[in-house]
Amino acid sequence: MYFLGISGGVMIGNQDGGAALMKDGKLIAAVEEERLLGDKHASGNLPRRAIAYCLQEAGITIQDVESVSFPGKTYRDFDAILKDYFEFHFGHAPKIELVDHHTAHAAATYFAWDRDPALILTMDFSGDRVCTMASVGEGNEIRDVLRMGKPNSLGVYYSVLTQYLGFMKDSDEYKVMGLSPYGKPTVDMSGLLATDGETYSLNPEYLKSHVSPDLPAPSKQERLYMGDLGLPGKARLSSEPLSDYHRDVARCVTCAPGTPLPPSRGTRMAGAILPSALERSWIGAGGHSKPRRFGENSNLLEVRFDGEC
Ligand SMILES: [Fe+2]
Repeated sequence: MYFLGISGGVMIGNQDGGAALMKDGKLIAAVEEERLLGDKHASGNLPRRAIAYCLQEAGITIQDVESVSFPGKTYRDFDAILKDYFEFHFGHAPKIELVDHHTAHAAATYFAWDRDPALILTMDFSGDRVCTMASVGEGNEIRDVLRMGKPNSLGVYYSVLTQYLGFMKDSDEYKVMGLSPYGKPTVDMSGLLATDGETYSLNPEYLKSHVSPDLPAPSKQERLYMGDLGLPGKARLSSEPLSDYHRDVARCVTCAPGTPLPPSRGTRMAGAILPSALERSWIGAGGHSKPRRFGENSNLLEVRFDGEC
């Protein structure tokens, strides 16, 4: 049986659509829409070309697909939108299944890595109204341990500082990562992101009102923050040159507040969310946990099992 997983969207805030085709638990084909569309991020596009590519690679038609999964369980009317989309573009709509966004991230990582049991930490700007989720994978099951919503989003935190440094959110985060090694860990971020050893919180005083648990993510052109974030310098305009201060801020985005590396912020967060995380295999997933977001803190992806690395 064939199963198709897709991502993307029909609004400008949705991007990075793609499609993956599975048969009997094995990956047959997968591709991002931007590769076929020639438009970076393929913003606001469902992956029509990627779906067609997957079907062609497998030598099948849409009628051979058992179901289509999409990671947006709380997306309003999205099953109806997808049904019509498939009928419109492919002449037939398989069964549509909307799945929880963070569970999809967790499953993509956990089942691909074959670590059992494992603690799974997923971090996003927001998906299905969740920003950070800790879960435990055991056998064929993923069990939630903790879910956190906006404004306590590490994705919002990273996006705010990407904008503060004069870059575009949902696009230029890798530039912040690339800048990070050139800076010094001198800027205290604890006024923006606070940790107390148990959990973390993002200071809502600096966030604009559209960064709300009840609203979809603002477009990448819109500023997410107000004021100076409590930082000692000024925000950079995209046209201004980079200074040592900006490099230091980039470095400290991924520092533990007020402390030099290590330990990495990612490690601290995992430990803070679930202390037993550091005693088990643990893996990261979601937009904010990609290695590029952590730079030298890539030990987020360290595997720990029975006390051994
Ligand atoms: Fe996500």
